[in-house]
Amino acid sequence: MAVGSDAGSSANVAELGHAARLTAREWSRKASAMVRSQLPLLLRRRRTVAGVGAYFDLVTDDGRLFFGDSFHLGYFPTGQETLCEALRAHTDLVTELARIEPGARVLDLGCGIGEPAIRIARTRDCHVTGINASREQVRQGRGLVGAEGLADRVEIRYGNALALDFPDDSFDAIVCLEVAGDICVTEAAKDRLVAELWRVLRPGGHVGFSDLAFTEAPTRKEDRALRALLYHTGSELIVDWPAQFTAQGFQLLEHEDIHEATLPTWDHVQAVYSERSDEVDRRYGKLITKRTRRQIAQVSPVVARCGTFPTFCARKP
Ligand SMILES: C[S@@+](CC[C@H](N)C(=O)[O-])C[C@H]1O[C@@H](n2cnc3c(N)ncnc32)[C@H](O)[C@@H]1O
Repeated sequence: MAVGSDAGSSANVAELGHAARLTAREWSRKASAMVRSQLPLLLRRRRTVAGVGAYFDLVTDDGRLFFGDSFHLGYFPTGQETLCEALRAHTDLVTELARIEPGARVLDLGCGIGEPAIRIARTRDCHVTGINASREQVRQGRGLVGAEGLADRVEIRYGNALALDFPDDSFDAIVCLEVAGDICVTEAAKDRLVAELWRVLRPGGHVGFSDLAFTEAPTRKEDRALRALLYHTGSELIVDWPAQFTAQGFQLLEHEDIHEATLPTWDHVQAVYSERSDEVDRRYGKLITKRTRRQIAQVSPVVARCGTFPTFCARKP
């Protein structure tokens, strides 16, 4: 899922004018990302890590332009929050679950363009290493971290969460913020991801976790709409994350399903497209805009019906 936050940040405003007028170079970058994301689906009939990275290469400018710098759903505990407040609230919830102490070494897995990492480093006074399989997000993330003057405390690196390039026990805490389903491109990858988290977390450390998962398979037609909009299907996200973590040996300390409190995001997304319809039409053309809005209208009830959104703190004893 690629919905971002605070469209008012200074780095984001600078990006707006830039992104609204695509240069030939940017068009070719986007065309390359489109091909790289679609090829695995055509040739291997499934997602690959490189394909997921390419999908985020493709959607990042547009996500930032319309929704800001976070790439997750909003958390609306009262339902009265703005989209920006809800996106931050989601980051803060997972940060809280990771039980981060001042000075801690924190891993932000699948870190988007580093907006959550920046917020975590500031609010918790810690050092955050973000890794990401999207080279474009790494590039933009480094720009954002530099613009915020936090290069000494937030590092954004290219990397694959399924084969982490860190020694055992490297981190005091791990943030796993709406990424697990994107990372896990096969069934086996689900075990592998949790095993990697176990390996790089020190004993006594905590993982703060959140993600959209599915409890039942949508219809084939619904899965096609999910794939077109979000790159994954609902069937690929059927997993019991708390059980995956306890099977690895983690202790579950807090566990809440925030699914209902994430659903207002979809109405907010549609509202952004309505409020900025001239700009959206100009950028994508009426045909693509109409199709995207139809897909959002198709996908949101499926997510509401078949989805769940576990959040928890997992402790490595
Ligand atoms: C839904 S976004 C969430 C991003 C970020 N956590 C946030 O909340 O803004 C999923 C992120 O996971 C990254 N990702 C997907 N598969 C990955 C992998 N195998 N290794 C590292 N990052 C991955 C994507 O590139 C993207 O940045």
